[in-house]
Amino acid sequence: MAFEIDTRIPWTEHFVQHGFAVLRNQVSREFTDAALRQIRQRLEAPARDLPFEEWTVDNIKWTDKPGPGDPVLDRLYDEPNIRHIIDTMYGTPEVGSPTGWSGEKTYQVFLTPFSPDYKPTRLEGGHLDFGGHLIPKFGNAFVMQVALRDTEPFGGNITIIPGSHKLVQQRVIANPFTQYPSDFDLPDLGCGEPYEFVAKAGDVLLMQHLSFHNGNKCGGATRRPRIALHVQVPRTTFPTIADPADAGSPPWVRSFTLNGRHEDPDDERRYMEFGESKKRMWGEWTSADEPMYFKIYTWADNSLRARIRLAGVPEQISHGARFDGRLLTFGCDANAPTSTNCRVVLEVDPKNSEQMIGTITPESAAPGEAPRTFLLRRTGIITTRLNGEA
Ligand SMILES: [Fe+2]
Repeated sequence: MAFEIDTRIPWTEHFVQHGFAVLRNQVSREFTDAALRQIRQRLEAPARDLPFEEWTVDNIKWTDKPGPGDPVLDRLYDEPNIRHIIDTMYGTPEVGSPTGWSGEKTYQVFLTPFSPDYKPTRLEGGHLDFGGHLIPKFGNAFVMQVALRDTEPFGGNITIIPGSHKLVQQRVIANPFTQYPSDFDLPDLGCGEPYEFVAKAGDVLLMQHLSFHNGNKCGGATRRPRIALHVQVPRTTFPTIADPADAGSPPWVRSFTLNGRHEDPDDERRYMEFGESKKRMWGEWTSADEPMYFKIYTWADNSLRARIRLAGVPEQISHGARFDGRLLTFGCDANAPTSTNCRVVLEVDPKNSEQMIGTITPESAAPGEAPRTFLLRRTGIITTRLNGEA
């Protein structure tokens, strides 16, 4: 039994209650046709000239993937219904809310061609964005996915877990440093039936950022690809309060009131500082006293991780790394002092950002046994996230 959209309530209320909404037929055929032509032109031959249903994961390659700034795709924001949706979600200065859309055009083309090996399976759980980062309580954006072409079940669509935004919000209110995936065990979240966004061209899906979701691979009966614009709609500021008693709140703000009134003036600062703290960890860190080397960087999954060289064990990558905004904790193999299975905790010295303080403890250590402390100095600089070989 899949989740059914509740058509008795307005889409705004659906977004509040379920963390998402579907609006049918919002964008002109003129726009979707022009966008599809533009996307097609940026594909390598021969797929560029093949019918959509002959596109596969093996023959689709971009020559130059279009994105923000593309003169054709940017016209999405000129579609009257799109502007209306954004203004309704955030409110506008005209209705007394100086907290509307920032005007930034932030979107990606989501093209999911047919996967011959994919065996359609129902979504179990999905994911939250902000992996390896803290999840903002309010944040400053919602997702708007605009279908450029009709799709079919299990045809590469995004699937949402309705109501998960309310359950995730309980976690982030209880602990604003809650992270995905390390702090979630999905069965215990108590999620209900999933909803798959099977679309007609011009349909729009709206999603709140605390909703669990996932894109399936594309393996529908007629092999049609999923082609959509996946839009982040940024608001000018992070909210600081969501109050169910405030009848003037726009729907996006009301979607944060299902667990009652919540006020937090620090959501934006905490989120931004977490990002800065991660960057302070970046670098190559070496001990002056013993053979110890840690290269710390942000990996493709957005999480911090470490490449490690220690005496007597082969070079290795940290496992289970988790950063809490100050301490980076992970497991690794080491001969110090007796065990090969150790837990390392690293922290940039609050008094000297070129220095790192660490402890190492064998997993087999008796409770209360003191960890061994060591000191590292920065011997290499890293200035960007590392998506490739690190
Ligand atoms: Fe996602």
